Amino acid sequence: MARSRPVSSWTLFLSLVVLIGCIIVPGLTVKHENFKTCAQSGFCKRNRALADDASAQGASWSSPYELDPSSVLFKDGQLTGILIKTTTNNEKFRLPVILSLLESGAARLVVDEEKRMKGEIELRHNSKINKKRYDESEQWVLVGGLEASKSAALNADAEAGFTKVQYGPDNKFQAVIRHAPFEIEFQRDGETHVQLNHQGLLNMEHWRPKVEKEGESESAEDESTWWEESFGGNTDSKPRGPESVALDVTFPGYNHVFGIPEHADSLSLRETRGGPGNHENPYRMYNSDVFEYELNSPMTLYGAIPFMQAHRKNSTVGVFWLNAAETWVDIVKKSTSSNPLSLGSKSKTDTQTHWISESGQIDLFIFLGPTPQEISKTYGQLTGYTQLPQHFAIAYHQCRWNYITDEDVKDVDSKFDKHQIPYDVIWLDVDYTDDRKYFTWEPLSFPNPKGMQEQLADSERKLVVLIDPHIKNKNDYFVSQELKSKGLAVLNKDGEIYDGWCWPGSSNWVDCFNPAAIPWWKSLHKYDKFQGSLSNLFIWNDMSEPSVFNGPETTMPKDNIHYGDWEHRDVHNVNGLTLVNATYQALLERKKGEIRRPFILTRSYYAGAQRYAAMWTGDNQATWDHLAMSLPMVLTNGIAGYPFAGADVGGFFHNPDKELLSRWYQAGIWYPFFRAHAHIDTRRREPYLISEPHRTIISQAVRLRYQLLPAWYTAFHEASLNGMPIVRPQYYMFPEDEQGFAIDDQLYLGNTGLLAKPVVTENTFTTDIYISDDEKYYDYFDFTVYQGAGKRHTVPAPEDKIPLLIQGGHIVPRRDRPRRSSALMRWDPYTLILTLNKNGEADGTLYFDDGETFDYERGAYIHRQFRFRGSTLSSEDLGTKGPKTAEYLKTTAGVTVERVIVIDPPKSWKDKSTVTVIEDGAKTASTASLDYFEQNDGKADYAVVKSPNVGIGKSWQIEF
Ligand code: GLC
Repeated sequence: MARSRPVSSWTLFLSLVVLIGCIIVPGLTVKHENFKTCAQSGFCKRNRALADDASAQGASWSSPYELDPSSVLFKDGQLTGILIKTTTNNEKFRLPVILSLLESGAARLVVDEEKRMKGEIELRHNSKINKKRYDESEQWVLVGGLEASKSAALNADAEAGFTKVQYGPDNKFQAVIRHAPFEIEFQRDGETHVQLNHQGLLNMEHWRPKVEKEGESESAEDESTWWEESFGGNTDSKPRGPESVALDVTFPGYNHVFGIPEHADSLSLRETRGGPGNHENPYRMYNSDVFEYELNSPMTLYGAIPFMQAHRKNSTVGVFWLNAAETWVDIVKKSTSSNPLSLGSKSKTDTQTHWISESGQIDLFIFLGPTPQEISKTYGQLTGYTQLPQHFAIAYHQCRWNYITDEDVKDVDSKFDKHQIPYDVIWLDVDYTDDRKYFTWEPLSFPNPKGMQEQLADSERKLVVLIDPHIKNKNDYFVSQELKSKGLAVLNKDGEIYDGWCWPGSSNWVDCFNPAAIPWWKSLHKYDKFQGSLSNLFIWNDMSEPSVFNGPETTMPKDNIHYGDWEHRDVHNVNGLTLVNATYQALLERKKGEIRRPFILTRSYYAGAQRYAAMWTGDNQATWDHLAMSLPMVLTNGIAGYPFAGADVGGFFHNPDKELLSRWYQAGIWYPFFRAHAHIDTRRREPYLISEPHRTIISQAVRLRYQLLPAWYTAFHEASLNGMPIVRPQYYMFPEDEQGFAIDDQLYLGNTGLLAKPVVTENTFTTDIYISDDEKYYDYFDFTVYQGAGKRHTVPAPEDKIPLLIQGGHIVPRRDRPRRSSALMRWDPYTLILTLNKNGEADGTLYFDDGETFDYERGAYIHRQFRFRGSTLSSEDLGTKGPKTAEYLKTTAGVTVERVIVIDPPKSWKDKSTVTVIEDGAKTASTASLDYFEQNDGKADYAVVKSPNVGIGKSWQIEF
């Protein structure tokens, strides 16, 4: 029996303090002083000053850039020429420009600086770095979509001083290039949708030598941040001097812009030049480990995708600013009312954006839509689509910092089973390692990692472990030895191995820009090097912004040096992508011949990282506001081409109360990446530890995710083919409904017609769901009918209910049998949920495959189109055959449809008791029973076909 100590009054007092501390969640806010504002970032300040100058001068401002008409050439879909920049003292600089018109309908503008291209510059501090402007982002980011337009042609009707190129589908797009001052307008069907340098803010800071001046500078320019810049006690040596690039992009008639993650802000981006409700600073993209990040802020976070969509009624256009350096984007909306007295209909808004990067080229893609779907597709052709993940990866992940022993992991695993809560993956945070040395196990707490993984494998569960890019700087650590001896570490400005501080203390960083780092990184993940790891182990790459605790703005100095002699400044935002690229390759084949789809989670990312990894929104907090913010953040990532996104369910910092935790699960099941995670200082909160009724509420939510996994996987498949977001915001579904454009607290799951509106405020037991069209929407659980376009409908949301509707016109596949893990549902039968639209029709799709290998690339999958027309429900094949098709169909032959539930069926079905089932290949038709259920109180009737037992991989019809 344990002996208890007498409780002293001190202990009592301390316990009270601790208790109160637990109840009152301290309002944490970011340390603003650790991160730059635009005014503290030299190049941002200089470019904003230029914008201020331009706006102060108004009509008399003129951009000092001209396209030299004699230099212009057009060939094979490409227009080339030389831009001339003229400075105030009449110096001229040559900037080669290439405008490529692409077969996809996108256009690409690249501007570089001749002197730096040719290396005709001098570097300061005897620096050995590359003299060019960084031009290798595309090697990391682009994977296709660059075929030149075959039909693009010069328009002979161009007036003097202009060059015009027609391109795009049916040559309906046109780039109108004005030579002096330089400006490009992009038109679709004769109307201008995107303007470059319309505000005259194009700026490419040309190379110049540093001139030591005595006394007062005569230059009108503020040179204070040209040659050196200090912040928070760190000095950036800037061996190449000032070299920023900037350009304004105007979207005339567009009132909403979306995208450019990662920010904790609304989906529809705000203005950034002050004023009520607006930001004071531009949206910043400089991947950073922002401790206790704030909400409703343009501050940078862990990842960056400089891709923006502009939207107005029935038109979406976009731009992608391919630049890996620190980037800021100002947004200003200008009302251009044709008659200032007539408010409303005639008034129109232009959105003016100003893109500013510290170094590199101007490399800008322009997309003319006109639908958001076309933009997703075209952008995805360039940067790649989300890899179809392993099936387990879209199920529920259980994480915390930390599961402390292998026995702890096994215990959690068993408890999930005991409480019949499904889960697929358990995670180990940094402390599973021996002294924070990756690829090792803490010997006392994880003596038997294999046994632990074997227990997980019994229910086909997986383990994910953390591997960060900082390598403990320790002589007896084999990874550190190899990193150094192979010369694969990032260097400091003096060319020595850079040393900084992270979880392991003194650390060095693997430079994944170096091609030689990849075979090495692969070797570390093999079973003989990463001993104790089995094939059901996958990887979490964190801290890859990179996070450096003692570095400037918690990252690496900008004058650090990477492979190719590029400064960290040039490549910072793609750094995280290079790590997941290496890990992806490492996980593809850990043992010879064992080729499987990798699963990786990354915190830092850039455009293109969607090809390799899922992402999450980093260290959020257990507050209602953070829960609410997770929805626009996940939606934004989706429309920025990175749909495999999620947030820490429950909140990372602090302890959520039961209501918040339950609501978070009810919201979290709508994140494409669904993982609970918690900080080391928080109380344990595995769902089975939560008292009733919340335990059941959480279990029900998780089970709903599992029930709908067929629909989720189908949505992932679609994302992997055409870049469609997996969860979609209102404007994306209803691009014509202006009232819906700013809505970012409800979402649609793929093409299923499922519309969820998670409750994200305390003590809230009803919610208003906005409906755009006049189809009927049905409550997913009790079939209550909601109808009425352009308004909000109040839906009950008691604590145990997830506000979820399904639009008329859909067929949703699901699996109703609860199992321990998603893999164990593999052979389970399907239920189809059917709702009819106004015309009495419905459509739906289903995709599935082995969920693990790449055999689907050789036809091992099932892809069905379900249709309801007249009185027939049919399943047709959407698949294309491959060498593995027949074999796959054979293995799945036993998987059937066990039930069809038709919500709000034709009343005439009341009199029917059977349906006729015709399966391809069957000799005779069979029948199945049909039961009709009447309901009242605003709830729709429904009918159930029991056991039609048609094969899921077969073609069939059910006649009602
Ligand atoms: C970072 C991650 C967090 C993780 C912690 C320890 O803060 O964002 O998820 O738990 O590092 O590895």
